[in-house]
Amino acid sequence: MKVAVLGATGLVGREMLKVLEQRNFPVTELVPLASERSAGKTLEFQGAEHTVHAVGDDSFEGVNVALFSAGGSASKRWAPVAVAAGAVVIDNSSVWRMDPKVPLVVPEVNPGDIKEHNGIISNPNCTTIQAVVALYPLHLKFGLNYVAYSTYQSVSGTGTDAMLTLESGSRSVLDGREPATQIVYPHPIAFDLLPHIGSFDSDGMTEEEWKMVRESRKIMHLPELKISCTAVRVPVFKGHGETIIAKFDNPITPEEAREILKSAPGVVVQDDPASSDYPRPRYCENKDPVFVGRIRKDMGRRNALSMWVVSDNVRKGAALNAVQIAEML
Ligand SMILES: NC(=O)c1ccc[n+]([C@@H]2O[C@H](COP(=O)([O-])OP(=O)(O)OC[C@H]3O[C@@H](n4cnc5c(N)ncnc54)[C@H](OP(=O)(O)O)[C@@H]3O)[C@@H](O)[C@H]2O)c1
Repeated sequence: MKVAVLGATGLVGREMLKVLEQRNFPVTELVPLASERSAGKTLEFQGAEHTVHAVGDDSFEGVNVALFSAGGSASKRWAPVAVAAGAVVIDNSSVWRMDPKVPLVVPEVNPGDIKEHNGIISNPNCTTIQAVVALYPLHLKFGLNYVAYSTYQSVSGTGTDAMLTLESGSRSVLDGREPATQIVYPHPIAFDLLPHIGSFDSDGMTEEEWKMVRESRKIMHLPELKISCTAVRVPVFKGHGETIIAKFDNPITPEEAREILKSAPGVVVQDDPASSDYPRPRYCENKDPVFVGRIRKDMGRRNALSMWVVSDNVRKGAALNAVQIAEML
């Protein structure tokens, strides 16, 4: 297949190239695309150097699959061009996710939705992907009726500049200086926590929190599911953590949940707190699965569990999920 990657020089784009290579995706021709800024740079893929081109009107001629990770405005501008040229676009931005004509897919949860596509398939928000991979198998057996998310999201979720910001800010603080003025977040992220991902609405909810609510409902086909969410950016480079409190229609025990999750697709149960064994972002880095631990009864509600879910946001939260969709296509 002729595969284009728009945003190939970015954090997600580079990971996409790695995942395509590692999974032996049948790429006969690679078209790495970015903005004018990166035109002429080279990227290595399958042992050869590939020149990056600035995306343009004729970038998608003959392309079968176009993986997009260049932000919302580039997706809006170029996805229709790619589709008109005959490509199927798998898009990492949020612009098409809630469009009823665009499937929003996590292959472990709703692979059947892929066939409804009209040229564009959306890759969900990273935090939502790992949540639904863990929740959906439990829903199938016990019936979800309420979810409360609290997220602990690493800076890589905001891209390359945010990783550099955390690195330089941490050095400044350790050297006794104030971190430099922020361009990525409203406050320095080094050694701090920011409960602010995306802008706030009049109810005090952030964009990221709404993504978790709306995208979880769409992917699991549970439009009425009650969900609350608090999303927090933390000074971790890679890997998102989240606590999930889930309430079910039917009684459920932690043992039953562990048994189901042990055989669930894409999940690894890592749950031996007595040996200090539970999922951690650094351990999950560059790994494919969604790791689940600290599975226990929620003490405040009937038929409810609490769990701790961690995954590599650049990998399963973006690049891997997109390539899995391409494989299913
Ligand atoms: N990081 C994550 O965990 C994650 C997870 C899910 C979804 N996403 C989404 O994936 C997208 C990229 O994220 P990232 O973390 O890879 O960001 P990044 O590291 O900042 O990379 C951005 C990429 O997009 C390209 N780009 C930017 N503006 C462009 C334009 N107008 N035309 C063409 N190319 C353009 C950049 O090219 P240049 O080199 O030319 O600047 C670069 O290749 C975003 O939509 C983000 O929301 C990210």
